[in-house]
Amino acid sequence: MKNILVIFGTRPEAIKMAPLVLKLKENTLLNTKLCVTAQHREMLDQVLHFFKLTADYDLDLMQKNQSLNKLASRILDAVDDVLLDFNPDVVLVHGDTTTSSMAALAAFHRNIKVAHVEAGLRTYNKHAPFPEEINRQLTARLADYHFAPTIGAIENLIKNEGVRSENVYNTGNTVIDALLLGLQNINQQKDQIVKLKKYLVPNKRTILVTGHRRENFGDNFISLCKALNTLANREDVQIVFPVHLNPKIKDIAYDHLKANENIYLSEPLDYEAFIWIMNECHFIITDSGGIQEEAPTLKKPVLVTRDLTERMEAVDLRVVKLTGSAYDSIVKNSVALLENKEFYNQMVSSFNPYGDGKTSEKIINILMKE
Ligand code: UD1
Ligand code: UDP
Repeated sequence: MKNILVIFGTRPEAIKMAPLVLKLKENTLLNTKLCVTAQHREMLDQVLHFFKLTADYDLDLMQKNQSLNKLASRILDAVDDVLLDFNPDVVLVHGDTTTSSMAALAAFHRNIKVAHVEAGLRTYNKHAPFPEEINRQLTARLADYHFAPTIGAIENLIKNEGVRSENVYNTGNTVIDALLLGLQNINQQKDQIVKLKKYLVPNKRTILVTGHRRENFGDNFISLCKALNTLANREDVQIVFPVHLNPKIKDIAYDHLKANENIYLSEPLDYEAFIWIMNECHFIITDSGGIQEEAPTLKKPVLVTRDLTERMEAVDLRVVKLTGSAYDSIVKNSVALLENKEFYNQMVSSFNPYGDGKTSEKIINILMKE
C-alpha cells in the first residue's frame, strides 16, 4: 500500500488541505499520515479543531516573531525525522509557505516524490508576494506532480517554465471544497458568531478587513489603518477586523484602531465564524490570497491592498480589484462600493473561477493511478 504524507503548517494551508486529508484518510487503499510543522500554532489549531483533524506528527515549530531562515532550518531538520520514521512514497505540500518549500526540499533530499497542491500561481516578481513567489517557484522545481487550480497556472508551469505536461494536472482549488464543507457546518450558536451578531447594527453595511503580508508591514499597513478610521466615520458603515497574530500587524492594528467604536477588532476568527461574517458583509478589504478565492462563491466584492496578485482570474472577471495600499485609493474604492450601485453590482461574481468543490476527489484519483 502506498504511504502518503501530507505536510502543512499555517492556517491557509490547513484550510485548503483539510478536505483532502479527510478524504485521503477515508481511503483504505492508501496509508495517509498528517504532519503539521505548526509554523502557526493557535491559527492552525483553530482549523484542525473545526475539521476534526488530528496530526500524526506535530512538530510544534512556531516561535514568536520567527525569522524566515530560522524557521526554514527548523522545518528542514524536523521533517527529516518524520520522513525517516514513516518512509512515505509521496509527500503532499500546499501553496507557497516556508513549510511547503522546506518540506518539499526535505522530501527531495530523501528521493521521495513531491506532489504540489495549488501549483503554478505566479507574479514573476520575487518581491511580491515576498517570500511566497519564490517559495512557489522552488516547490515547482522540486515537485513530481503539479496540481494546478486554473488554466493560467497550467500555462505558467508548462509554457513559461518547461514543466513536462504529463506531470501537470488541472484540478481546481481545494479552497472551494473547504468552503462548501465549512458552510454546511456553521454553528450559529458559536461564541464568536453570537458576539458578532450582538455587535452588528442591522441597518449598517459591514466592511470585513484582514491584512498580514510582509510587503505591507510598516507604512502600508498604517495607511490601511488610516483609511479604515476614515471609513468608520460614516454612519452607514461598520468594520469588522479579525487581526492576524503576527506582532508586526497586531501591534499597529491595536495602536491605530482600538479607540474606534465603529471598528470591531478581534483575535483571528475560527474558520466557521470567518466564513459566516464573509457571508454577512457588504464587501471585503484584504491582502489575503485565500479570501480572494473564496469571495466569488459568496458573491462579495474584494478590494485587494496589493499592487500585484498571483490570482488574476478574479481580477479579470472584475470581482476583485487591486487598490494597492495607498490611503486615497482604499478610501476612494470603498466609497465607490458604498455609493455606486453599478460599480458594486459589476463586482458581484456569477461564478467562481477557482474550483467546483470536487478538487480533493480529482487529486486522490490521480494519486491512485500513479
Ligand atoms: C505565513 C506565510 C504566508 C501566509 C500566512 C497565512 C510564509 C513565508 N508565509 O505568513 O504565505 O499567507 O502565513 O497567515 O510561510 N503567530 C502566532 N500564532 C499563530 C500564527 C502566527 O503568534 O498561530 C505569530 C508568531 O509571532 C509568528 C508570526 O505570527 O512568528 C509570523 O508567522 P509566520 O508563519 O512566520 O508568517 P505569516 O506572516 O503568518
Ligand atoms: N480566515 C479565518 N479566520 C480569519 C481570517 C481568515 O479562518 O480571521 C481564513 C479565510 O477564510 C481563508 C484563510 O483564512 O480561508 C486565509 O488565510 P490568510 O489570509 O492568513 O493567508 P493567505 O490565504 O493569504 O495565504
